[in-house]
Amino acid sequence: MSQDIHSDSIIIKTENLCKQYGYGTNSITVLNNINMSIKRGEIVSIMGPSGAGKSTLLHIIGCLDTFQGGCVQILNQDISPFSYDELSRFRSNHIGFIFQMHNLMPEFTALENTMMPLLIRRQSYTKAKQKAYKLLEHFGIADRAYHKPAELSGGECQRIAVARALINQPDIILADEPTGNLDRKNSDILVELLFKTCRENGSTVVIVTHDQYIASKTQRVITLIDGMIQTDVNN
Ligand SMILES: Nc1ncnc2c1ncn2[C@@H]1O[C@H](COP(=O)(O)OP(=O)(O)O)[C@@H](O)[C@H]1O
Ligand SMILES: [Mg+2]
Repeated sequence: MSQDIHSDSIIIKTENLCKQYGYGTNSITVLNNINMSIKRGEIVSIMGPSGAGKSTLLHIIGCLDTFQGGCVQILNQDISPFSYDELSRFRSNHIGFIFQMHNLMPEFTALENTMMPLLIRRQSYTKAKQKAYKLLEHFGIADRAYHKPAELSGGECQRIAVARALINQPDIILADEPTGNLDRKNSDILVELLFKTCRENGSTVVIVTHDQYIASKTQRVITLIDGMIQTDVNN
């Protein structure tokens, strides 16, 4: 994690962010003048109906997608001029992403999947393995370390996906409906682990969810409708 002594500093900022798909008369506006600031260490949920632009917004903040208008600053850096490679590097250094479907690699074990971000950053295999195992222990799934995703439950896979996103202790965790396929019990376990670990690490969390209960556990709820921020309220 980068050193930043200002705990209330803005870590994510969008100014008049606009995103369209397609061109000319066929174009559709998916994000329409999004202005939002999120502080370091904040845990924020994004809600809103299907098609509102929640995933698009999260992907742009996560350097997984591009945009046409406005400005996006992550860690005080304007990401709009970044090349594809620069976006990838920036993402790998600062951002952990959790998807609705765990997106684990099926040919690798839980432990290997968890280690992957460290190996991508060229850390030693032995150290990466130790660190990943410790995190799986912390998540109560170390006994599943040598199993592949097909041998694990949905809840276990998603906990491993969270471990993988957290292994680098990234500045920012972005989660797109991470509990969408889980039952209440597994959903609660996952969110509890995610928020607790991020609080300990000082990571900022932006979580897209349909779940009022999860939203109530976050400090702030932003509601998106038709590509615009409808409400932005503190809990
Ligand atoms: N690659 C794409 N090409 C065209 N339209 C897209 C594409 N991806 C998403 N959209 C459209 O953008 C809108 C917002 O999508 P999305 O961000 O996935 O919404 P949400 O996550 O809130 O359900 C939707 O109308 C969707 O159909
Ligand atoms: Mg979505």
